[in-house]
Amino acid sequence: MTAGLELEDWVERQCRRSAGFMAKSVSAVGLRKERPGLGQVVVPARGSVLASPVPAAWDPEPDYFFHWLRDSALVMDAASELIRGSSDDGERRAWQERWRDFVGFSLRLDRLSGRRLVAGVNLERRVRSAMRPHFRGTAELASIEGDRLRGEVRFNPDGTLDLLRWTRPQHDGPALRALALLRHLPLCAGETERDALAGLLRADLAHVVRHAGECCAGPWEEEAGRHYYTEVVEAGALLAGAAWAEAAGEAALAGACRGTGLRLEAGLEDFVRGDMLAARAGEGPDGALDSSVILGVLHAGRRDSRHGVADPRLLATLDRLGEHFAAAYPLNRAHPEEAPALGRYPGDAYFGGGPWFVTTLAAAELHYRRASLAGADGAADLARGDAFMATVRRLVPEDGSLSEQADAETGAPVSARHLAWSYAAFITAAAARRLAVRAQATK
Ligand code: NOJ
Ligand code: NOJ
Repeated sequence: MTAGLELEDWVERQCRRSAGFMAKSVSAVGLRKERPGLGQVVVPARGSVLASPVPAAWDPEPDYFFHWLRDSALVMDAASELIRGSSDDGERRAWQERWRDFVGFSLRLDRLSGRRLVAGVNLERRVRSAMRPHFRGTAELASIEGDRLRGEVRFNPDGTLDLLRWTRPQHDGPALRALALLRHLPLCAGETERDALAGLLRADLAHVVRHAGECCAGPWEEEAGRHYYTEVVEAGALLAGAAWAEAAGEAALAGACRGTGLRLEAGLEDFVRGDMLAARAGEGPDGALDSSVILGVLHAGRRDSRHGVADPRLLATLDRLGEHFAAAYPLNRAHPEEAPALGRYPGDAYFGGGPWFVTTLAAAELHYRRASLAGADGAADLARGDAFMATVRRLVPEDGSLSEQADAETGAPVSARHLAWSYAAFITAAAARRLAVRAQATK
């Protein structure tokens, strides 16, 4: 951590650094990643967004050299935040251009065909034997086209299908992308750009309507089921999408989005457990306590007092998570007077299941958003948000780089390095902080 700076100055500096690091994941045309076991050399195309630009091969860092629908939507949403907030013309133009390329890249993914892929190359022969257990197989690949493309979860950043087995489908990605597109629309520079964006948005919304509430793998890419995260972002996308479609004169799409969105919104009550919100629907405490609930509400952009940032059940859920991780992580036990660093869920074993930047930053952002809603009465929430921010600060290395996780004992970086989503989470939390500070001042 960097001593000396006031928290506010540190947040602004770390926000600028995060923007710089995050930019390296977008249109990383100068990078290349070899996967010899698959006979692949992957060179990112313009508009692709790498989950992490640091090539790794589970040695031990995970191979995140992919364009995930979820991660890329969150990154580009943070980019819109940078465009709105920046006073630097050059920076704004650079992000506008990345946004245009992102829309173009995303539209090209829609034309992929697994059938064509397997007809063109003998993949079974190309995949080396050590890689066989991880290869999806030609039968599965051949079935991937049309509607199934949006359940693919992730693609190679050169715009080709992922050949590896992975937890599929996951349906939050298209909803998150729709939300990011809706927020970006007012920032679009020209007519052509707006038309391309609207085309992608229509297809994403139609996909969400078709698959709303379906059982699928959640944001942590583990068990299939009904996930609060997925359903709250689906509801958020559809209700915001309905308003857009209506204003655009697309009555049929608007009707479908509103009808399905309201049904999903009502279904969110299935996740209520006593005074808190569970991550998965169904009986029993298993899978109940999970940070993805907080992330879902933030990503959906919901402010309501039901399934929005003002929902007291969300705060109760965060408190419960805080109590759990305060006791579970040695680094939290060493600082009992500070806000706890948060992981994904109790019992998480992925890379040691330590604290994540995206989850701890979400705790800060939730408090900042609550502080904005409360106006001049938000001082306590602003202070609590800052307490989580101070905890994040303790975990950020001197150079400002953000990994996926930190070690639960030492705080050292763990798992994917330079995780683009961690930077995105920092940027949106910092933006929420600015709004909260302003809401305090104007009263
Ligand atoms: C990769 C996923 O992204 C991660 O969340 C999960 O824990 C592991 N696979 C294990 O399934
Ligand atoms: C693992 C996380 O669980 C998942 O949400 C994310 O999409 C991938 N890592 C890539 O960052």
